[in-house]
Amino acid sequence: MCGIAGYIGKKEGLPIVFTNLRKLEYRGYDSAGVAFFDFRGNGKLIKTVGKLDNLEKLIKNKKSLPLTAVVGHTRWATHGVPNKANAHPHADCDGKIFLVHNGIIENYQELKESLIKKGHNFRSQTDTEVAAHLVEEYGFEPALKKIVGAYALAVIYKNDPGKIYVARLGSPLVVGVGQDEYYVASDPTALAGLVKKVIYLKDGQRGVLSLNSMLIGPARPKIEPLDIDPEQAQKGDFPHFMLKEIFEGPEVLLSALRGRLMPDKGIVKLGGLEGVADQLRKVDKMEILACGTSYYSGLVGELLFEEFARIPTEVLLASEYRYRKLPVKKGTGALFISQSGETADTLAALRKANNHKLLTLGIVNAVGSSIARETKAGVYNHAGPEIGVASTKAFLSQLGVLTLMSLYFNPRKTKNHKEFLEELAAIPLKIRSILKESNQIKTLAKKYLKYNNFLYLGRGYNYPTALEGALKLKEISYVHAEGYAGGEMKHGPIALIDKNFPTIAVVTKNLVYEKMISNLEEIKARSGPILAIATAGDKKIAKLADDVFYVPKTAEPLEAMLNIIPLQLFAYYFGTLRGHDVDKPRNLAKSVTVE
Ligand code: M6R
Repeated sequence: MCGIAGYIGKKEGLPIVFTNLRKLEYRGYDSAGVAFFDFRGNGKLIKTVGKLDNLEKLIKNKKSLPLTAVVGHTRWATHGVPNKANAHPHADCDGKIFLVHNGIIENYQELKESLIKKGHNFRSQTDTEVAAHLVEEYGFEPALKKIVGAYALAVIYKNDPGKIYVARLGSPLVVGVGQDEYYVASDPTALAGLVKKVIYLKDGQRGVLSLNSMLIGPARPKIEPLDIDPEQAQKGDFPHFMLKEIFEGPEVLLSALRGRLMPDKGIVKLGGLEGVADQLRKVDKMEILACGTSYYSGLVGELLFEEFARIPTEVLLASEYRYRKLPVKKGTGALFISQSGETADTLAALRKANNHKLLTLGIVNAVGSSIARETKAGVYNHAGPEIGVASTKAFLSQLGVLTLMSLYFNPRKTKNHKEFLEELAAIPLKIRSILKESNQIKTLAKKYLKYNNFLYLGRGYNYPTALEGALKLKEISYVHAEGYAGGEMKHGPIALIDKNFPTIAVVTKNLVYEKMISNLEEIKARSGPILAIATAGDKKIAKLADDVFYVPKTAEPLEAMLNIIPLQLFAYYFGTLRGHDVDKPRNLAKSVTVE
């Protein structure tokens, strides 16, 4: 979603802010802008619609002197169409205040009306512009008190040059602490390689950054190390982040398991849960809350928790949970899954669960993010920054951590426990062998490129896999793809099947294999093309399906980690072959910080 970058220091700020906006491009945006006041109070406001390349052309010959406070923004439209007027930074009536904002000002209509009555002139349709005029009318701190909603704000003043005013409520904002310089960013990824220390602003914290000083309050700012390898935020030799991140799968899973999975001792250790171990023992129901891809990993988690932890588990869409009137029961654990740790719906659900005094746990990838901080305990994915908007490696690592968690809860080790842990440890190698065959998937994507509708089928652990495979295809290819439970197909979707409606079936050798075969027979009988993801050595499927991609055999609860890889690759190749920008698909944002 929108991105914020800012700089105050001895270096020339404009190129720094622009480069940092580039690092935030992955979040999704439709317009962009920068603004600055130098130490003499001379200012510039430059903004444009479209890609950052357009902004780059406009700032090419512009220089910002050292000691100039610069702010920049990439906007993902919420209030008002993507046009130049609605792009950030926004200004007050006289162009003496420039302001960038992430979040939503919920009471902006009434604030706008009252400001218009006081004589303010508005130029845009955005909620954000209200903040610029509020600051003009009342000053920074009093303005914040009038805003209802969420904000991460960075503001610069003509009359107070060389300073950046920052504030956070509900939307993330990070301050990078350098030597005689400060950076501002909505996402710490932008600061990787620039600073080693950061402050993740807490809700309600605000402050002023100038060359040699930083004043943040009311809560004392906590300086934390920034532990993001800048290499990880680069594409390297890959044409797209999405492909790079799929190929990172084996390493990502190894990092998720490292130091936690000990097959030789037959144990799973999760340091992040040690502090709440006593409370965990009393949990008699688990609710898993998440959105999008993280929700689908939660569906796999539900099956894992039932099978290994033997705890009744329910997966809920965070956006729905917020407004449901679920009875609150002591002893319920609430597990929040989020790659970004900033998804507004998931965060709001977490706050509700915290208000209900539930034991809240997290599986989060972004270190220091709001969900990681506000859950009582949790386990980091350690997948590294995920830049592609379509989540791939984060999903895989979520599955890894969920498997570990369900085993951690496992009260009486299930049959073949040690062998199972060994098999889990072998999954990264098996993923590597699938990735070696990626060209086969590319060929299949070419073959199926003519179709505009797809049904994804799976059962058991592979039902969420099918849902996630379908989500990947629709996100980056913009074709209709529907995930369905194999057994449900005959209750409706079968009506869609004909020679123009292919099915991608996850039909590996497991408990429900024969059932899936019957479902596929029903499709074949209606001339539906079938592309199957099947277990190596399965001859039966080759006779039934039009095409088969084979994956190595593994234990059923671990299958999703293997089977999702060809589906991610299929979506990737399909999207790129159709000429789409798969790293930044239309209308989508990496971190959805609005409801
Ligand atoms: O950062 P989160 O895991 O909380 O994000 C949740 C969803 O917004 C996210 O998974 C979304 O569905 C992705 N675009 C999936 O590729």
